[in-house]
Amino acid sequence: MILILDFGSQYTQLIARRVREMKVYCEIHPCTLSGEQIKALAPQAIILSGGPSSVLGEASPTVDKQIFAWGLPILGVCYGQQLMVALLGGKVENAGHSEYGRTELKICGGQQDFFFSVEQTSVVWMSHGDRVINLPEGFEVWATSANAPYAAIANPARQLYGIQFHPEVTHSVFGKEMIHNFLFEIAKAKPDWSMANFLSSKSAEIKAQVGEAKVICGLSGGVDSSVTAILLHEALGGQLICVFVDNGLLRKDEAKQVGSMVREHYKINLVHVDAADHFLSKLDGVSDPEKKRKIIGHEFIEIFDQEAHKLQGVKFLAQGTLYPDVIESVSFKGPSAVIKSHHNVGGLPEKMKLALIEPMRELFKDEVRTLGRELGLPESFINRHPFPGPGLAVRIPGAVTKEKVATLQEADAIILEEIRAAGWYDKIWQCFGVLLPVKSVGVMGDARTYEWTLALRSVGSVDAMTADWTHLPYELLGRISNRVINEVPRINRVVYDITSKPPGTIEWE
Ligand code: XMP
Repeated sequence: MILILDFGSQYTQLIARRVREMKVYCEIHPCTLSGEQIKALAPQAIILSGGPSSVLGEASPTVDKQIFAWGLPILGVCYGQQLMVALLGGKVENAGHSEYGRTELKICGGQQDFFFSVEQTSVVWMSHGDRVINLPEGFEVWATSANAPYAAIANPARQLYGIQFHPEVTHSVFGKEMIHNFLFEIAKAKPDWSMANFLSSKSAEIKAQVGEAKVICGLSGGVDSSVTAILLHEALGGQLICVFVDNGLLRKDEAKQVGSMVREHYKINLVHVDAADHFLSKLDGVSDPEKKRKIIGHEFIEIFDQEAHKLQGVKFLAQGTLYPDVIESVSFKGPSAVIKSHHNVGGLPEKMKLALIEPMRELFKDEVRTLGRELGLPESFINRHPFPGPGLAVRIPGAVTKEKVATLQEADAIILEEIRAAGWYDKIWQCFGVLLPVKSVGVMGDARTYEWTLALRSVGSVDAMTADWTHLPYELLGRISNRVINEVPRINRVVYDITSKPPGTIEWE
């Protein structure tokens, strides 16, 4: 295992991604781990991440100095390099002005290991205010840049390496080669992390943990919970019971589709709870977006808990927690500001007093998709657009009614059908309708209409943190608008949302 110690850089997760892409298993842990805790993890090599602090500042984050004496390969990136230098007796100073962005790197050493197959001069991504000015004993210079005379340094005898730039970002042209070299030339790691291996070792681990007990798993219809359920089913068969709470706020026919896939295709025990009327009555007259989210989250937990109590011998609760959620909670930076209270199954474990099983807590989203493929899930399911936990409720600004949900379901189905037919579905992050509480006058045939407005939203994104509105072809927009107005009774006007994120969010509520 490669250990990545996080000093708070926005790029720490990217380092982990790069390492995993090379089929080497790694974990991110906060830099606050003690020397003993680090030793207990038995890493094969350590990467010290970058971070926003200055080693010159008071109380800046540090690491137990003894790690440098263990003979392990260690790579310090940016802050990690400066920290290594400061702890080993070298000197760091404030560079006077920060060096930020693309920078030319000139190599003067390490061509046989760290810089193997990297061109003599190449572009790297810099982002720093401090720089190394004196090397600790035994270190030599391996690369320079205009503002960093020690852009790359090494003490090859002790396997210690430091770089001022960020190889993990794609702007560093040979960044992948450098990470590759650190893993395979220096740390002698083996590229043996694969989904097939992951699957068989996870199954064995889960079987040993669960024994004869029963496991309950909430299904939402999304990829994460479905993959969790199928993985557990492979390991445990009939000991797994899935609970699907239909809150009546799903897409048209979605509840049926999930039910048939899980029950008929995978033969998983499924408890289907039809709670549509219950949710709608709880949402009656509520128009505040956060209140709606809270109500839906709360009711979900209540219903799920009631169902679980009807079952005998359940000792475990399985959840589709992913690695980014785990890192968020252990991150050195602390959680960022809450814009919307996301509801998935948060809050369940405390309420239910069951032991947790989170088989995917080491995986990134795209790795979950690969795992889904390994488990035989169809591509059309794996590549589904994200759908919010509170469902269509957050796409109906104002109070939610049964009629509005049914209207939006019809419009949404037409949107998806047209987007798919035009070959756009797999090119965009999400596309959906928002039913606005705005009525306008129209004319249909010879009659006056006075009906609701549908806002069409389509965005492109890589991680939902930022998003751009999609430039869908006018013809496609026209077809969607015509069909929605002609086929969905209560809508007589369609508008297109051209707001990016930020400043907008993807969902309206
Ligand atoms: P926003 O609206 O915050 O959405 O820009 C970012 C992404 O998250 C999805 N989303 C949710 N996903 N539970 C989820 O699992 C939720 O409560 C939730 N709310 C929003 C949204 O669809 C987009 O992809």
